[in-house]
Amino acid sequence: MYRGTACPAATLVRRWRVVARLLLLLLIGASCAAPPRGPAEPWTHLLPRPASAITTDGGFTLPPGAAISVSDPTLEPIASMLAGTLRPSTGYALPVSATGSGALVLTLDATRTDLGDEGYELTVTSTGLTVRGATPAGVFYGTQTVRQLFPASIESATVQPGPWRVSTGTVRDGPRFAWRGLMVDVARHFFGPAELHRVIDVMAHFKLNRLHLHLTDDQGWRLQLDARPALTSVGGATQVGGGPGGFYSKADYAELVQYAAQRFVTVVPEIDLPGHTNAALASLPELDCDGGVPPPDTGTMVGLSSLCVGVPATAAFVHDVLTEVAAMTPGAWIHLGGDEAKQTSPADYQAAIALARDAITASGKQVIGWEELARADAGPGEIVQHWLDPALPTAAATHGAKVVLSPARRAYLDMQYAPDQPLDVGTFWAGYDDVITSWDWDPGQWLPGVPETQVLGVEGAVWTEYIATPDQLETMIFPRALGLAELGWSPSSGHSTRDYVQRLADFGSRFDAWGVRYFPAATVPWR
Ligand code: ACM
Repeated sequence: MYRGTACPAATLVRRWRVVARLLLLLLIGASCAAPPRGPAEPWTHLLPRPASAITTDGGFTLPPGAAISVSDPTLEPIASMLAGTLRPSTGYALPVSATGSGALVLTLDATRTDLGDEGYELTVTSTGLTVRGATPAGVFYGTQTVRQLFPASIESATVQPGPWRVSTGTVRDGPRFAWRGLMVDVARHFFGPAELHRVIDVMAHFKLNRLHLHLTDDQGWRLQLDARPALTSVGGATQVGGGPGGFYSKADYAELVQYAAQRFVTVVPEIDLPGHTNAALASLPELDCDGGVPPPDTGTMVGLSSLCVGVPATAAFVHDVLTEVAAMTPGAWIHLGGDEAKQTSPADYQAAIALARDAITASGKQVIGWEELARADAGPGEIVQHWLDPALPTAAATHGAKVVLSPARRAYLDMQYAPDQPLDVGTFWAGYDDVITSWDWDPGQWLPGVPETQVLGVEGAVWTEYIATPDQLETMIFPRALGLAELGWSPSSGHSTRDYVQRLADFGSRFDAWGVRYFPAATVPWR
């Protein structure tokens, strides 16, 4: 009973020792486990926002003698592209070598399955930067993040003062969705390979990985095919407004597909049928039920044309065209369109889709179509692309199809940004779609009947009835495609408009350095 008071001084000493020991342990623990003090420059500006980015308090300055080295020869093209970006602004030689050591190291490590097909780990220490991926795609995406760690002037085409200093730290990153796309309608107005190269460069920098080309429509057929040369000699000769149109030769197209693939962008060709086919009907009269030759369509109406389904010429056309397109397509997907077939009966629609489906699958490719594909029993192994009616992708997903989301209100990049947009381009039938609206939605929650597990990803779509020049095209795509890239890549947690707008503001100067046009939305505090 006296223990507590038997020797008060001894008890005090004992307690003090315990407290002192605890304090000591806390101090040691803190100095070992806690991150070093404040970062030199936190990585809060990256776009798309990475899954995790932690800066520490050191820094690394790229030395003039820096080299880029790779652990595996398959990474050399990636290293060369990175060097090609960094050389003009730094003025450094940045030789690419296979030594596996240097200031910038790219490493392929197949054992890092935790990084996934497209993920990467980027580590910056006081001696250099290392990008690690389990695949070349992951390493490529890591190098895009490397570019963003440096000041925007690193993107300049002329020598800039530097110093090229970055914080130390680690980015661990990978995408939320596998499909991060952009569709360009080259049928209504034609855009040549050089313009598409510019678009691909920017897409790839923001980790978009599918370029869906809407190659055929009423107003134009843009892909040369040996099976039916008239499709381009006749069907490629004009466009909306009556201009000269154009088309990709087979060589142009092969080069374009390869240019995209080097940047980990897969070209997804779309041959739209059975509607949206006036250019084919004008080229090949045997496809028209009336046997007539419709004049070229240089207007902007939709839903006026259909292949004549049920005649042998149409069956041969669908087979030959899609088989040849598949042979020109290293990617896994062929898009058969299938939208707005207003002149085709439901039975003919089903029959036409069956022909297309057979040709695509017999060529070893996977079918993707607009959401109307649900009316022709879309199911497992197929992809439907939602644009307007939630019931259609929901039905297809219930039957096992995957869904790519391009809701017109958010992802149709031909919608004008705002009523007072100082541009006489685009349209607004689905509503105005400003920089924030196009970004501020959750693909995992967009269709109440489609769980996130059925959502393959997101795709922006730029239709070109009212977009005629490269300047207009870029201004409508950018910067909204960056928001869609972020929806496709970044985790849903942490989605904040305030933060997004601040990050986006940093990219105006990069677009300026690239000479790529973007819409200078007033809601963004461009720097
Ligand atoms: C579409 O907008 N017709 C897919």
